Amino acid sequence: MSGLLTAGQLGSSDVETLFDLADSFLEVSSRRMPKVPALKGKTVVSLFFEDSTRTRLSFETAAKRLSADVMTFPVASSSVNKGESVRDTIETVDAMGIDALVVRHRCAGVPHQIAGWTSASVINAGDGAHEHPTQALLDAFTMRQHFGSVAGLRVAIVGDVRHSRVARSNVALLASLGAEITLVAPSTLLPATLDGWPVTVSTSLDEVLGVVDVVYLLRMQTERMREHLVPSLREYRMRFGLTSERAALMKPGAVIMHPGPMNRGVEIGGEVAELPNALVVDQVRNGVAVRMAVLFWLLGSGGHQTDQPSELAEVDREGAADV
Ligand code: NCD
Repeated sequence: MSGLLTAGQLGSSDVETLFDLADSFLEVSSRRMPKVPALKGKTVVSLFFEDSTRTRLSFETAAKRLSADVMTFPVASSSVNKGESVRDTIETVDAMGIDALVVRHRCAGVPHQIAGWTSASVINAGDGAHEHPTQALLDAFTMRQHFGSVAGLRVAIVGDVRHSRVARSNVALLASLGAEITLVAPSTLLPATLDGWPVTVSTSLDEVLGVVDVVYLLRMQTERMREHLVPSLREYRMRFGLTSERAALMKPGAVIMHPGPMNRGVEIGGEVAELPNALVVDQVRNGVAVRMAVLFWLLGSGGHQTDQPSELAEVDREGAADV
């Protein structure tokens, strides 16, 4: 099976290859015509059973920049609404002859199941509160771009860790790259057990603010909560929100990150995303290049064992004219 289902499946040499590819694709994205023929003839289907703005558009932009054919499966107006099962849906799409499926679902494990029903590469674009590996890749890539390396960085992941697939994938990937991670949240927003998580925990943002290099904020994912886990959003903001006042207390050179969508006025102050040390826009920009890298790594000629990023950049430059 080829595909990208969890951040933990990536070895450090895979991550390095993907980051080198993403560097090449950032260069492609900056061209006047940001398109290369690398995946001409391949078909990528995006299958989002759950809402998305940036992840879906980012994958579709990435696939189009590689000249793949892109189909968006409109779940809301499909036969899923007539009771068709996920399995029958996948087998129908698979029979059309596709190369990759980008899947988001509100239940953990669905992309893994789907991978057993199709010969296409399956990319997990978020499954419940479980994993979101390409988000973690683009976050780590953004940190590497800003600081030169992820190893040794001190990263605080702040907020609703319990319901966050972004936090799970980021902890796995950042720890494997040598970052030191502190989860900052009220205990009600932490997972029931943190056994095996390579993290330290703090219940005070004010305590870690002056020492970390990255403050990574999470949205309160109320759609996944079955009970009230904080007294009120106002109270949450008072203790855990990155207000302008708190942002001013960050260590010099430290940066602010957020996967989006942001709830301004809750986990992030109204103006904080516009501060010069906020990397939110860089995360989105890098997301396209990183997803181009993932798609090329999985679908490019020869698969991910043999491709050399430097050769690829040459091929792309030569091939760009005939798109
Ligand atoms: C996140 C998600 O959907 O997991 N957003 C994203 O993909 N950029 C985070 C969230 O919904 O809060």
